[in-house]
Amino acid sequence: MLNGERLIDRPLRWGMVGGGRTGQVGYKHRTGALRDGTYRLVAGAFDLDAERGRDFGVRLGVEADRCYADYKELIFREAAREDGVEVVSIATPNFTHYEITKACLEAGLHVICEKPLFFTVAECEEVERLAAEKGLIVGVTYGFTGHPLVHQMAAMVKKGMLGDIRIVDMQYTHGFNSGDDVGAGEAVKWRTNPKTAGPTFVLGDIGTHLYYLSEIVLPHLKIDKLLCDRKAFIPTRAPLEDHATVLMHYDNGARGRLWVSSVNAGNMGSQRYRFIGSKASIEWSDSHPDQLIYEVQGEPNRTLHHGMPYLEEESLAVDRMGALHTEGLGDSWSNIYLWIAQAIDARKRGDEVFLKTHHYPGIKAGTEGVRWLENCVRSADAGSAWVDFH
Ligand code: NAI
Repeated sequence: MLNGERLIDRPLRWGMVGGGRTGQVGYKHRTGALRDGTYRLVAGAFDLDAERGRDFGVRLGVEADRCYADYKELIFREAAREDGVEVVSIATPNFTHYEITKACLEAGLHVICEKPLFFTVAECEEVERLAAEKGLIVGVTYGFTGHPLVHQMAAMVKKGMLGDIRIVDMQYTHGFNSGDDVGAGEAVKWRTNPKTAGPTFVLGDIGTHLYYLSEIVLPHLKIDKLLCDRKAFIPTRAPLEDHATVLMHYDNGARGRLWVSSVNAGNMGSQRYRFIGSKASIEWSDSHPDQLIYEVQGEPNRTLHHGMPYLEEESLAVDRMGALHTEGLGDSWSNIYLWIAQAIDARKRGDEVFLKTHHYPGIKAGTEGVRWLENCVRSADAGSAWVDFH
């Protein structure tokens, strides 16, 4: 169980690019990072509006002269300080991730970047090489995969409690884009424009969360083929999609079905995962992250609760609140940030043995998300044809 005791020697000097006052995801980063004494927020280029960014940064407790107008100034000025930032989080629109990540790595800074990581696998592989050359860590904030019951699911699959995996069923939907985009805010505008969002809208925005979580639970399954059908119900969003269905064939013969949509009007269910094996099934939703449904064929169904001693060690080890008390998204983000901090700390200490077995969402996880998106787009653009996954 995690209790806030610091698991690295000293807090990392941390900066943020984006995640300003009006940003949607910035607070989740700060909630995750500032929990366990593993990061200290010392600098930022928080906002496209430099003045608003400075005012916001000061109110977060950052010194005014370390609230910069843009990421270039942050990198340049922090490099000149002995106590300059060591790691930078990037919580900006998708089209900026590649350029900011590269600039940070070139300046010797570790990076924690939002998903979808970049636009293309080629960009991901280039940056992966750069990070390796520089000996730097790139973490990716798949923020839902710190929930303890996600790791319970992975442990149950690993122990064979489900039998052979046959069916994977995943859904991440909401209805917030059911209407048109007239008068929409910045976060919708950049998400629906290929120049700023990249080759997808909902597939990258929410589908990559489903895909990464399934990779954690089913690390031994690889996709052989995939078929993607995508559509923009609001025509101004085309060629990007506000709704998509993906069918997947896995290398063990399993079948997968994934549905993402932001036009599921009225829906507040968010994410749902069902993993079905030859003996039993498990089902989990981020709407009720404390509960895991475990159904064994021929037996009464069970609801497993987080923090209970009957759970697997992998789940109990990352629990924070203990049974009976709600464990939520903030706790999940804290785990993600903690695991990335431990990776950075290990790299700084040269502890490659620790890094070999330490699990955190890193650049490979980001790359695989982008690879999945590329395959989805290739299939959809070929008239929703089955394509070999590569
Ligand atoms: P947003 O549009 O709400 O906020 C973006 C923030 O970045 C604003 O504060 C804006 O002023 C600032 N910004 C934009 N360009 C900048 C630049 N060049 N330099 C400095 N600041 C800049 O966007 P939102 O929804 O917060 O998304 C940001 C990223 O986070 C996206 O990549 C998105 O896919 C991802 N995201 C991830 C989530 C997760 O659960 N991991 C949840 C929501 C978003």
